[in-house]
Amino acid sequence: MSRAVVLGIESTCDETAAAVVRGGTLVSNVVASSMNEHARYGGVIPEIASRAHAESFVPVVSQALAQADMNISDVDAIAVSAGPGLAGCLAVGVSGAKALAWSAGKPLYGVNHVIGHIAVTQLQFGPFPADTLALIVSGGHTSLLHVEDIAKHVDVVGTTLDDAAGECFDKVARLLGFPYPGGPHIDRHAMAGNPHAIRVPQGLTQGKAGQEHPYDFSFSGVKTAVARWIEGEEAEGRAIPVDDICASLADSVASVLSKKAMKACKQYDSHTLIVGGGFTANSQLRSKLLELGQECGVDVRVPDIRLCTDNGAMVAMLGVNLVEAGVRPSAMNFSIDSAM
Ligand code: KG4
Ligand code: ZN
Repeated sequence: MSRAVVLGIESTCDETAAAVVRGGTLVSNVVASSMNEHARYGGVIPEIASRAHAESFVPVVSQALAQADMNISDVDAIAVSAGPGLAGCLAVGVSGAKALAWSAGKPLYGVNHVIGHIAVTQLQFGPFPADTLALIVSGGHTSLLHVEDIAKHVDVVGTTLDDAAGECFDKVARLLGFPYPGGPHIDRHAMAGNPHAIRVPQGLTQGKAGQEHPYDFSFSGVKTAVARWIEGEEAEGRAIPVDDICASLADSVASVLSKKAMKACKQYDSHTLIVGGGFTANSQLRSKLLELGQECGVDVRVPDIRLCTDNGAMVAMLGVNLVEAGVRPSAMNFSIDSAM
């Protein structure tokens, strides 16, 4: 059976990305980022990100096709992230993808970006079993998902009630004077610090009373606890132990994420945990997940960092799953959904 060839387009936040996937193989992958333009503001500025997408869309898509040695006529379908993400950014990618699909007469799939983070692991580890669990963590999302069938049914098992883990790191990083995105700086400093130096609360270890399920996360209290601790030390005129703060924060966040993921695997009888999203580049989380996975008999699939961060390959791979499962393309009037 010949496998589907899909062009995937991504523009949910600060990456304009396109890739071609054939079956389970990555043929080309191009990413342009406006990250440096946001650094001095301490976070992504939607207006700047949207303009950057408008500038990069055509060059990035052309390059992805050229690297694959293809024309648009060679692909079976186009897939584009329809949400969640920044509305102005999504609008650029979705409008561009619609124009391309319409002019080339190709089917178009508007897909969920978070599910793309799950799908992309197939490029490195091959197909995953049905009824598997996934942990997707980034600057915008922290979700535990039950993947019954990637093309048809994915349920949210738990999500963040406030800040995402990456957002929490980025906010603490700003307090410590690191530029955006601060996550990688915290990771680096954490390696030199003592993870038990400061008591950082673990966001929602038990689940709140009356909460729908016990797998939700909360990281805004974690960020506030670190901020108060720093203020207290400054008020006393003590030097701020940056490495120890980073190590204690990283340990707390990595622990709660990996413990809840393993607990969910047990409840859902899943022996595989799919991992993805920009925050899963974090060394402390990667090692904690692999360590607990080994203890609990769970095969933890943490992809290479270039597949964890936002890219077009994740969208194209999910597109392949949808085409090959016979799912109907989206109607051409589908809308973006920033909160999906
Ligand atoms: O998935 P992603 O590229 O974009 C979003 O959809 O948000 O994730 C970016 C997030 C940022 O918050 C960034 O600080 C965080 O991932 N991040 C990290 C590391 N690398 C990226 N956080 C902690 N440790 C890292 N090594
Ligand atoms: Zn993402």
